[in-house]
Order: sequence, then structure tokens, then C-alpha cells
Amino acid sequence: MLLKRTHTCGELTGADVGRDVALNGWVDAWRDFGGLVFIDLRDRFGVTQVVFEPEAGAELQARARELRNEYVIGVRGKVAPRLEGKENPKLKTGAVEVRVVELVVYNASPTPPFEIDGPEPNEELRLKYRFLDLRRPELQRVFVIRHEIGQTMRRVMSDQGFLEVETPVLGRSTPEGARDFLVPSRVHPGHFYALPQSPQLYKQLLMVSGFDRYFQIARCFRDEDLRATRQPEFSQLDVEMSFVEDDDVMTTMEGLIAALAKQFGGEELALPLPRVEYRDAMERFGSDRPDLRYGLELKDLADVADQTEFRVFQQAREAGNRIRGLCAPGGGAKYSRKDLDGFTEFAGTFGAKGLVWLKVEAETLTGPTAKFFKPEVQALLRERFDAKAGDLILIVADTQAVTSQALSNLRARLAEELKLYDPRAFHYSWVVHFPLLAWDAEENRYVAEHHPFTMPLPEDLPLLDTDPAKVRAQAYDLVINGEEAGGGTIRIHDSAIQSKVFALLGLSPEEAEEKFGFLLSALRNGAPPHGGIALGFDRLVMLYAGLTNIRDCIAFPKTARGTDLMTGAPGAVSPRQLKELHVKLD
Ligand code: AMO
Ligand code: AMP
Repeated sequence: MLLKRTHTCGELTGADVGRDVALNGWVDAWRDFGGLVFIDLRDRFGVTQVVFEPEAGAELQARARELRNEYVIGVRGKVAPRLEGKENPKLKTGAVEVRVVELVVYNASPTPPFEIDGPEPNEELRLKYRFLDLRRPELQRVFVIRHEIGQTMRRVMSDQGFLEVETPVLGRSTPEGARDFLVPSRVHPGHFYALPQSPQLYKQLLMVSGFDRYFQIARCFRDEDLRATRQPEFSQLDVEMSFVEDDDVMTTMEGLIAALAKQFGGEELALPLPRVEYRDAMERFGSDRPDLRYGLELKDLADVADQTEFRVFQQAREAGNRIRGLCAPGGGAKYSRKDLDGFTEFAGTFGAKGLVWLKVEAETLTGPTAKFFKPEVQALLRERFDAKAGDLILIVADTQAVTSQALSNLRARLAEELKLYDPRAFHYSWVVHFPLLAWDAEENRYVAEHHPFTMPLPEDLPLLDTDPAKVRAQAYDLVINGEEAGGGTIRIHDSAIQSKVFALLGLSPEEAEEKFGFLLSALRNGAPPHGGIALGFDRLVMLYAGLTNIRDCIAFPKTARGTDLMTGAPGAVSPRQLKELHVKLD
């Protein structure tokens, strides 16, 4: 029998005293004081204390004594004030209790593998018993935020004239750099669907169809190496607009970002958001997604290096490499020799063959290599970094890529350790004008930096024929606190330019036609100028919920090895299923 609830467990207050109510929920805790049995009853709205008194009868009390954690029950009774001194001001329901006259046990439960309101269990256990893990109030809070972010996205996009359109999950691959998940076709032996890495081509085709403005909260699938901020299936707020330039897309999205910042970050955003040229981001921060909550800028030190007798620097200069460094305020005073050895090792994990460190003292710079820096060179260094006594200068000599990698990661680590920013603050910016292409040494060809459908900057179009590596794209990434929260581009709407880019990516005209014939055909059939963007939905939830692991933002996530510990996916299938799909195992 169901005791139909009149209230949730997070609802009753002093104003309800005297009411007859019914509650449903899980036993969060129980206390048996002989005369009185107390149960904390929990649902996703809160916890209410219910009490079984002797007056209710020996039989009811005896049944209450059999209740254990995570039993699901219904109770009926009268709301009463708690005994004086027993109120819990931290709970909304903390002033009252329900004196039970009827109890229904819907379901029992064995002792759970971890306490629902106890300390955080280990992750393997959490993922194996995800249905219990999701009962934990911390996680329930995340999914409320997730829902609300989704609602705000839908409302703001819809208010701006965007139509929500669903695109297929079974399709052909849209190469975005990751590996595809494939689904074998039963009806077409030897043929496969690909799960979408994003709805990229479909949304472009919707623009060709005249939909003008499209959005979708789309599930995307990428078979790539996973990290704390990546999952093999994740969601994007996917957006496309017709008759726009890059500035229009950014400005439109800023409306949504401001709404999210206000609702979830508690802040009135100053618009427009800062825009940083990709080139400047790489030069000043060594990263295309710099965390701008703090400064700690990288400086070029080639001229300084030339005035030293330091062999490492001279060799770097001769090899055409770069010498760059940064200065951490207070780092010299804070870090020991051992810490600094640790930094050298850390830089080494990004390919740096060494790390020069110099402690800034009142008069001089000190460190194992300080002897190579004459007083006038030391003065130059101090001036370059505006360094003060107690600061720490770190220098790496290596290729552009290695100096960027090593120093940007040192930068992030130092800022965190030296507490150079407020961890609750949000910083939003655009990084714009990424290169169109990147050279893939392994494959010995160009690959698209974003995707193959991205339009070059008009002034760089001639470079497609002469110096493709130099071509900048009409591309923009939204960066929040050093995370790539979204990315998009203006698309190629001219089939000739699209064919040229396919050729640069190493596709023969036949391959281009075979793979992308439908796109080329659409572009020839009246494609409007268009562009768009996708925001990482899970990543935004992660940021606004104050989390560092994307798994906590997804109801049923996969482990770092792509498995679902609860269902056991991916799992083996029967020989019969394989036969039907014309698949033979290796
Ligand atoms: P992109 O590949 O940059 O662009 O993806 C857009 C945003 O999606 C998020 N994201 C992820 N989140 C979780 N797990 C992952 N594995 C993952 N991969 C990406 C990031 C990223 O910024 N079609 C283009 C968009 C466009 O051009 O309109 C695209 O998918 O926050
Ligand atoms: P070595 O000559 O290799 O013994 O290095 C002397 C010092 O220079 C050590 O403190 C190294 O950490 C540092 N060093 C070596 N190579 C580099 C480099 N590429 N960039 C910065 N510092 C380096």
C-alpha cells in the first residue's frame, strides 16, 4: 500500500505544527532511546525527523525498531514542535518532528557499502553503486544545478530566436580529431554507422535549409584518452547561426554567458568579454586557454641570454630555440632547494631538459646558475619582471612548444600554490584567430586545428596557396578559469574554398567527394554564410558546481578506462548477435 505523501521531507516548518501529514523517503539515521524511536527520513528535498512514541502503541514501536538505514518507508502522523533544546537550526525542518501513527515499509535494504551522508567513499565503490552514490546530497545538488543550467540555456537561446532541432546519433563520421565509436549495420554487411563526435555537419546543413538559428543540447561521442575534464560521451550546447560574422556569434553567446554568470556565479558580467589573440595568448601565457585570474606572464629573454656566458642558453640560441621565463611573487621566499628540484622535475615532464631558478634577494640573484648572470644582466632580469626581493625567477630554454608547455604548467601550479587568485572567482575571455591548420609530424600532413569546415580570415586566404601554416582561422574559444568551455568558428560556405582545404588536409578530390559529397553538394546549392559554436555543458556544470572532476557532473559516467563499473559496459555479446551483424572477432 502506498501512503500518499502530503509533503516532501524538506518542507515542514513551525507553521505546520498540528497538521496531519504523510511523508515518504529513505531512513537516513535511526536512534532508539528505549521509550522513543527517532528516524531521520530523507528524500531529495531534505530530512525530517519522525518519532515513534509509546503512545502510538507497542506494535508500531516494535516495527520502528526494525527499520535500518536506506529502508524506504511511508509514515503518517501529526507535526509537533521538537522538545526544547532539540531544534536543529541548520535544517529547514529543524524546528519540528512528525509523531507517527502509521508506518508502511515499502522496501528493506542491506547495510549499504558506504554511508550516504558519511565521508566520501572511494571512487570505484561510488561508480559500482552509482544508484546509491547519487543519493548523496552533494551529488543531488549537482544535478539540480545541471538541470537549471540546461533550462537557462534553452530559455535564453529560444528567446533569441533559436530553434531546437535534434540531429541523428547514427550517422557518418564527422572527423573532429578524435576516434569514432562505430556501430555495425545488420542490414548492410560490412558497413558501419559512426556516433557523432558533434552534430557539426548536420547543423551546417540546417543553415543551408534556412533554419537561420539552431541550437541543441547534443550528446557527443569521442573515443579519446580520458582525463579529469573529458568523458567519452558528453553534452554540448551546440549552436549555429546564418548571415553572421565571428563577432555576431561571440556577442550572441555573451548574452547567454552573462545570464549563466549571474544565476550561477552570482556576478554581473561586464560585456563584451576580453578577446585575446591566439598568438598573444601563446606568447604571454604559453597556452591557448590561459587562466587570466592572475598575471604571472611569460617573458622572452633572448636578449638577456645573449649577455650571459651560460652554455645552455648559447646552445639554445644557436639551435634557434627560445629562452623564456616567469617570475613568481614571493616564490623565492617560500620555496626550499628541495621544492625547486621538484619544479625542475615537473618541468621535465613537459619535455624541459632543465630549469634555471633564481631567487631574488635584496641585492643579488642567487641559485646554482646565478654566477653566469653578471650584475648588469641581473639588473636587466629584475627590470624585465619588475621583480622584488623574495620573488622567484624561472627560465626554460627550449623549443617554442616545450617552453610553452613547461612554463604554462609551472605558471598554473605556482599561482595555485602561492594563492595568487580567489578560487571562487570566475574569469571569462575569448581566445580568437587560432591557426587554421596544425602540422601532424606522425602523419606527415596538415590536420585541422579546429575542424575542416572552418573559414580562414579573409586577409589570410591567399596564404592557403603560399604558406598554409600561417593562415589564421575565424575561430574563437571561450575560456573560463583556464578551461576550454567552448569553441566555434565561422564556416566555409564556398565549395571551392572547402575543396581547397580538403586538399590541404591530404584528401584527394575522389576521397573528398566520397566522404563529404553531401556537404560539397549542399554548399553548391545556396549555402548562406554561417558560423557557430559549442559549449561544453558538463564542463560548465563542473565550473558552476565548484567541482574538479567531470564524472561528478554526469549521472552515469565512465571511468578513465571508458568502462561503466555499474552495468559492466562495454560487455561481450553472444555469437549470434555478432553473426547477425556480420562481425568476426580477431
Ligand atoms: P569542440 O571539439 O571544441 O568543438 O567541442 C566544444 C566543447 O565541448 C567540450 N568538450 C568536452 N567535454 C567533455 N568531454 C569531452 N571529451 C569533450 N570534448 C569537448 C569542450 C569544448 O570546448 N563542432 C565543434 C563546435 C563548433 O565548431 O561549432 C566542436 O565540437 O568544452
Ligand atoms: P647542465 O649544464 O645540464 O648541468 O645544467 C646546468 C643548469 O642549467 C641546471 O640547473 C639545469 O637545470 C639548467 N638547465 C639545463 N638545461 C636547461 C634548459 N634547457 N632550460 C633551462 N635550464 C636548463
